[in-house]
Amino acid sequence: MEIFLDTAEIEDIRKYKDFIDGVTTNPSIMSKRGNDNPLDVIREICDTIDGPISAEVLSENYEDMLKEGKALAAVHSNVCVKLPCTVDGLKTCKALSSEGIPTNLTLCFSPTQALLAAKCGATYISPFIGRLDDIGQDGTELIENIVDIYEVNGYETKVLAASVRGVQHVVQAAILGADAITLPVKILKQCFEHPLTTTGLEKFSADWENRKK
Ligand code: E4P
Repeated sequence: MEIFLDTAEIEDIRKYKDFIDGVTTNPSIMSKRGNDNPLDVIREICDTIDGPISAEVLSENYEDMLKEGKALAAVHSNVCVKLPCTVDGLKTCKALSSEGIPTNLTLCFSPTQALLAAKCGATYISPFIGRLDDIGQDGTELIENIVDIYEVNGYETKVLAASVRGVQHVVQAAILGADAITLPVKILKQCFEHPLTTTGLEKFSADWENRKK
């Protein structure tokens, strides 16, 4: 399973570079970089890590999305143009895919949106599992349904679990066969941690220091 970092912070990307395959961003994440030019931010990320970098369009209609998507894709061949699962977003996905430009279809909350994204040649589909859990629905069930639909129909679109709220989501996505997951820094850090690892190390170190001399 590919692991992406859900951030636009260069220091974090540098720090966790060895453990991630790429980066995903969205307008909320980019807004944390203040007035930095989005194209410059994406270029900086592409220069920091070699792997798929999802960069989201801000426009909402087909013509503007297409223009914006092409401008983002021109920054680097690793850029995956992130588009919403709307009629215009899917239409743009189809157009960009036909030109060989990688895409990531975002804000996916239903299996039918995922089915349409695959038919439009999306490279990744991003089901938002945490936001579904937030409204009392089962986000991981959506992952399961999409993985099944893609397998039965032979679609090559990769399932990228997004809107991850905890390590349990990481485990469930991996068990269900998601191709990729994107993690906020906080959750990636939690993936390394276990209290028994910490206390175990402390004990090993103390026992060694107190050895018979
Ligand atoms: C990634 O592609 C998504 O934009 C992100 O995971 C959304 O996460 P959130 O629901 O925590 O904002």
